[in-house]
Amino acid sequence: MKVGVDYYPEHWPRERWEKDASMMEEADLDVARLAEFSWSKMEPRKGDFKFKWLEDAIELLSDHDIEVILGTPTASPPAWIIHEDPDILPVDENGDTETFGGRRHYCPNNSHYRDHTKRIVKAMAERFKGNPNIIGWQIDNELQGRCYCEDCRERFHEWLKEKYESLENLNEEWGTVFWSQTYGDWDEIPVPLNTARAHNPSLKLDYFRFMSDSWVDYQQLQLDILHSDLDDDWITHNLMVGGYEGIDYSKLAQNLDFISWDNYPKYGGTVNPSSTAASHDLARGIDNTGYWIMEQQSGPTGWNEIATAPNPGQLRLWSYQALARGADSIVFFRWRTARVGTEQYWHGILDHHGEKGGRYGEIKEFSKEMSEFGERITPKGVRAEAGILKDYDTHWAFEIQPNSPSIDYKKEIEKYHKSLFDLNVTTDIITPNQDFSRYNLLIAPTLYLVDEVITERLTDFTEKGGTLILSYRSGVKNFRNNKVVNQRLPGKLSDLVGAQVEEYTSLPSPKDQESRAKLDYDPSIEFEIPEMNSRSADIGIWMESLDLQEAGSIAKFKNSPYSGKPAITVNERGDGKVIYIGTGLSYELHKELAKWITQETDISEVKDLPSGIEATWRGEEEILYLLNHRNEETEVDLDEKFRDVKSGDETERIKLPAYGVKILSPVD
Ligand code: GLA
Ligand code: ZN
Repeated sequence: MKVGVDYYPEHWPRERWEKDASMMEEADLDVARLAEFSWSKMEPRKGDFKFKWLEDAIELLSDHDIEVILGTPTASPPAWIIHEDPDILPVDENGDTETFGGRRHYCPNNSHYRDHTKRIVKAMAERFKGNPNIIGWQIDNELQGRCYCEDCRERFHEWLKEKYESLENLNEEWGTVFWSQTYGDWDEIPVPLNTARAHNPSLKLDYFRFMSDSWVDYQQLQLDILHSDLDDDWITHNLMVGGYEGIDYSKLAQNLDFISWDNYPKYGGTVNPSSTAASHDLARGIDNTGYWIMEQQSGPTGWNEIATAPNPGQLRLWSYQALARGADSIVFFRWRTARVGTEQYWHGILDHHGEKGGRYGEIKEFSKEMSEFGERITPKGVRAEAGILKDYDTHWAFEIQPNSPSIDYKKEIEKYHKSLFDLNVTTDIITPNQDFSRYNLLIAPTLYLVDEVITERLTDFTEKGGTLILSYRSGVKNFRNNKVVNQRLPGKLSDLVGAQVEEYTSLPSPKDQESRAKLDYDPSIEFEIPEMNSRSADIGIWMESLDLQEAGSIAKFKNSPYSGKPAITVNERGDGKVIYIGTGLSYELHKELAKWITQETDISEVKDLPSGIEATWRGEEEILYLLNHRNEETEVDLDEKFRDVKSGDETERIKLPAYGVKILSPVD
């Protein structure tokens, strides 16, 4: 368990470095991440490497017991590189070439850029291998973006040849007969730049997949070089978990030693503990070996405008939240607020003036606590009894065709996640390649793209006793070819669901008064089971009237053309069951549903706690984290005795100060 900072010594005069390092040491920090973005300092002219400054910084830090993570600087190619090879610059969807001046101004498929990358990464690896003060490496910074340049077009053709083998096959699977798009030569295939009228969705989906693969491949280029030189150092990349959806992170994670990600719980001034929790739960779902927070918020965010500052106590609280949900180490971004550059208002631990302030004190407190009991409170893993499936291909397919103006795949996932989070049921958000058998409950919202493999795995999960929740717009398209299936929905999943869709319509959300008024009806559903108190509720987004096969109905439509038809069904299957939700529910209803289902599936919630209190178990129920996200003291009654790890006191009733944290272990 380590605590550290992202540090940019190159932004500060050398005379200051010593003071920085001593202040870090005084705050008990263990690591610093360096060198990311410092390419022009390391290679001011082609092949003219200047690493001495970096070696000096590493040595000085090590004199203060601070280990180093080195970042490769490829997120910001210097001006001389772009001047030499302007074709490196990425092209956007409008066909416009982006210019030099910010960062991330490169195309991962550009061969010149790949050569520049190899040169700098190789030089760094050779120079720093064996340096005992370096513990690990970070590749690039927050890989992201979609490029539409000529190099990408060529590589896309190669990618397509490998996938489809023949043009006949591609034409058939993409359905290019539509609008006379049949291709007679691979070179005729465009990249989906803006066109007069919308592109073929199959081409677009394949392009999104190709761009995701391009980033995985670009990362691999760096991994291969680093691996050939480094023996013991680990290698990671800092993902934008919860913030970027264009890369299939389960693939990006595959060849890293572990993932790390950048966590800004008050990004833009808004705090949403459940959505930060969802990011942690996805990070854990992508890589359940334990992850790092490589950038943890340490002050107000902002580039041109400064967002509301975190309140005193929140930085510490969010750091504990990260540990509670699976992080193994935390690195704060950044040490000192930059006086120059685009990010001069993105605040670090220290303000521009560089003296100690409240944030320094708070992070020091956290860091000292970690030195004292950090290892003890971070036993391996976080136990989750529920899983939510997140499929990147489905995400991209909805990005291209949202189906209903109100469908947002990320929100579909977050609705279910929040309903469980508010009951203190820990959930992994997992990708389809993961093992489902460790969950009692698996939720796969709007699973739009479905093939035989996922159908079989979901069936197997259910038959072995799991409870599976599926919802509207599932099984619509065949996963590989992106065609709409020629059977009643939910297509391949029909047998498992035990019901089929008769008719469907999209619906405006209940909040959209204007569109609702145009509907001529005010749709709702009514539950038919006592467990849900036979209650009625408004619905929105979508509705499907269901035709029962083996399944039974638990809720029916009212006040709509589908009045009296089943809206939610349950199908017993093997030792488990499938619940199919054919319409969009409000958050309140999701929460009630979650309560009922967690009781049914014997999922142990950590008790009914006051709202704003987050409770999570770490390890196999070894450590209980209680986090108070409210700005007021809150009392929590746990009904059984726990030992406070920090004070050693034994107690049942716990007073949590505003933004306070209690770390507890059970007393037997
Ligand atoms: C990201 C990046 C950092 C920095 C911060 C603040 O997370 O990784 O380099 O830009 O945002 O903007
Ligand atoms: Zn490109």
